Amino acid sequence: MVRTDAEVSDTSQNTNHDTTQPAPKPFPLDTILCGDSRDILRSLPAAAVDLVLTSPPYFHQRDYGRGIGNEAKLNDYIAALLSVFQECLRVIKPTGSVVFNVGDKYAHQSLLLIPYRFAIAALEQFQVRLVNNITWVKRNPTPRHFQRRLVSSTEPFFHFVVSDAYQYFPQNFLQRETRPEQRQQKRRVGRRYFQLIEASTLTPEQKARARAALEVAVSEVEEGVIRDFRMKIRGMHSVPFGGREGGRNLHLERDGFTIIRMHGERLKRDVIETAVESLRGCLHRAVFPEALVTELIQLLTRPGDVVLDPFLGSGTTAVAAKKLGRRYIGIDLNPDYCAYAQQRVASVMYQTSFLDVTAP
Ligand SMILES: C[S@@+](CC[C@H](N)C(=O)[O-])C[C@H]1O[C@@H](n2cnc3c(N)ncnc32)[C@H](O)[C@@H]1O
Repeated sequence: MVRTDAEVSDTSQNTNHDTTQPAPKPFPLDTILCGDSRDILRSLPAAAVDLVLTSPPYFHQRDYGRGIGNEAKLNDYIAALLSVFQECLRVIKPTGSVVFNVGDKYAHQSLLLIPYRFAIAALEQFQVRLVNNITWVKRNPTPRHFQRRLVSSTEPFFHFVVSDAYQYFPQNFLQRETRPEQRQQKRRVGRRYFQLIEASTLTPEQKARARAALEVAVSEVEEGVIRDFRMKIRGMHSVPFGGREGGRNLHLERDGFTIIRMHGERLKRDVIETAVESLRGCLHRAVFPEALVTELIQLLTRPGDVVLDPFLGSGTTAVAAKKLGRRYIGIDLNPDYCAYAQQRVASVMYQTSFLDVTAP
């Protein structure tokens, strides 16, 4: 095993003042370890990591040399993943999470459903709970045209925990990325309602009042006063179901329209939509999008927490962790990838975020 960075003994993690006890094992933080993750994970202390976030090599998809993914049989590949997964469960704290992104593959024109075979085996073999199957929607999948099937453009990220006490910060999830898009979408929806008002059988006075009310609702969304709204226009939309007497149905009847305002937090859906990324000069062909990794780190950790990726590849998890002020440990079998990741991480400046509500 080659260490590509200095081994750090982090005393804040391993305080042991009893001189009769053996000295605690040094715990390598902010380090990239080059070697087989099945061996290296075993050398790490138990209950020391807050988040394992990783993407193991796909089955027979890319040749990373002698690593996992080259097994002759699918069952042996799943078994190899499970042996790493088991060690990940050992090294996380009771409040921690393990997120595995596993890719699928076609054989004889049929999907093998590898991610789900792995997830089911993990649930059957270990005391874990699957909190979510978060779907990564690729905005720009490889443009290929098949005659008899559609282009695969999603991948699952399985979020596992070992106890009810897992730490969780949904308020930090998908904040910045989707808000401007959402507002744009709202403006488009607003425009459509304006068209519907014009096309309706409302009187000119009712149309004028409906346009004014719609303008107010659109600006309330843009200013963040309300999360969303729906408009119902008489003759254009169905009557609200189960409406109370004197409620929305009365408004529809009397004014010709009604606006339903939605307050509070946006729905946090189990979907992350980002583009597939490629890094200039990178040997690696399957890199995580940094935006996606950033969202998961913010959802599941606080600044100062420890994030581990046992299949680090080009180093994206470590890069995102460092930018967010988290500690990182990365492992990869391939020395060239380790060196590349080391270089990437070294060029990253630590950034603090005023928006990070988990900051201590
Ligand atoms: C899908 S890639 C990970 C890509 C990474 N998420 C990124 O953003 O670049 C899988 C990585 O696992 C590494 N690998 C394969 N078998 C391994 C093993 N037994 N131990 C450690 N790393 C291994 C490969 O070298 C490869 O870089």
